[in-house]
Amino acid sequence: MKIEVLEQAVNKLLVLAEDDIKSKLNESFAILRATAIVHQHNHWEIGGQAQYGDHLLYERLYTATQSDIDSLAERIIGVCGLETLSFNKTLNNLQCNYLNSLVDRSILERSLLAEQKAKDILSITYESLKNSQFKSDIGLTEDLFPSLISNREEALYLLRRRAES
Ligand SMILES: [Fe+2]
Repeated sequence: MKIEVLEQAVNKLLVLAEDDIKSKLNESFAILRATAIVHQHNHWEIGGQAQYGDHLLYERLYTATQSDIDSLAERIIGVCGLETLSFNKTLNNLQCNYLNSLVDRSILERSLLAEQKAKDILSITYESLKNSQFKSDIGLTEDLFPSLISNREEALYLLRRRAES
């Protein structure tokens, strides 16, 4: 009887841990979506010839981010199922956590803050994944997250250089 109770407790903890990972994966997806929205909006907002370099910089950033989003989304759906990326969960993350915090920021600040936040959330998710049941699932941990984080570092480098110029 005691063993059964223990097994139920362990199973409950495993379910909670799985829910936590799936929630972090949705957060990672949502912050990349938010970041792409920010970069693309900046691309449109900077239209003048004098700022043509910035126009192209933001195009490069949103294009790269869109590619990352697609890779992450398809990997998450393959490993955890479509429900992890449900529209409602993603919209909730987009509205509450990311885009609202960028109101009244400058164009450059918006992109910098979004990329920094994306790097932070992806790094937290990556650490959690390493210790989870998904750690060996089709490279969700081994190749994808290091690449997503590295791409955030590259974007931050470009944006910081722009901030200094
Ligand atoms: Fe364009």
